[in-house]
Amino acid sequence: PELDLDSILEYTVALARTAGDLILEGSEAIQSATASKDVNEKKNSVDLVTQYDTDVEELVKKDLAAKYPTFKFIGEESYSAGSRPPLTDEPTFCVDPIDGTTNFVHWLSLRVHILGLIYKRRPVLGVIFQSYTGQTAKPLKLPLASPPKPLGSLSQALIAVEWGSDRGEKTITSKSSSFGPQNVQGGKMAHSLRSVGSAALNFALVAQGGLDLYWEVGCWPWDVCAGVVIAQGAGGVVTGSHDAFAASSGTAEFGEVTEEILTGRKYIVVRAIGGSEGET
Ligand code: IPD
Repeated sequence: PELDLDSILEYTVALARTAGDLILEGSEAIQSATASKDVNEKKNSVDLVTQYDTDVEELVKKDLAAKYPTFKFIGEESYSAGSRPPLTDEPTFCVDPIDGTTNFVHWLSLRVHILGLIYKRRPVLGVIFQSYTGQTAKPLKLPLASPPKPLGSLSQALIAVEWGSDRGEKTITSKSSSFGPQNVQGGKMAHSLRSVGSAALNFALVAQGGLDLYWEVGCWPWDVCAGVVIAQGAGGVVTGSHDAFAASSGTAEFGEVTEEILTGRKYIVVRAIGGSEGET
């Protein structure tokens, strides 16, 4: 049966706001929690989780299960806790309770709640809610009234990059070689690089036109699911994202990034490897 995406969108936007309220109401507690370093580590010392990540995910998971009992659920914290349902053709919610957990731990308010929906193995709906400002990326009407202008060259781009939490040698070598020398040699220097600390926020910022490109290695499905839908809805191109959906089985491959790909339009490039346990 086809899904009623409009009503699911309405519901998930409201739920994302509820998740945001939970965080905002507890802001004092967050400060004392983070001040007392009530923060746990997952696969390594830079892969952080707080009680708020798990509380928000529990709230969202319970609520979605009550409203959509036949839908499957993949969530960052459930996954960490060992709940790793295989991806099927069934409608599957894909949730990151707090994207930007490291910012959150440092009281930096760049953080979002992500509710995505995957159907027939493709991301079909995305909600990215910025609880600090109360902003939700609005559903995009296509075609866009003012589509992003093509970039003349990579040298005109403002590019988002992230260090992420996978500090395995392969990932770090790939990132540092891309962030550094290749961007300042051969006349390909970009206008600048940005690192906001939330994958979803990067997607939303590219969709809004503030950033031209987001490049990252090492995303997980919940980091990118909603962003893929929003960015594509805004005319962005996502490469490698579907590899992220294979990431939980560790089979993701790198997409190719070329100058030609980068300069045609507003682009988002997510090169996902994910699932790289053992490479921490
Ligand atoms: C992380 C953030 C970070 C990105 C990582 C993500 P989390 O998600 O989006 O910016 O570099 O790849 O995993 O841990 O804050 O939910």
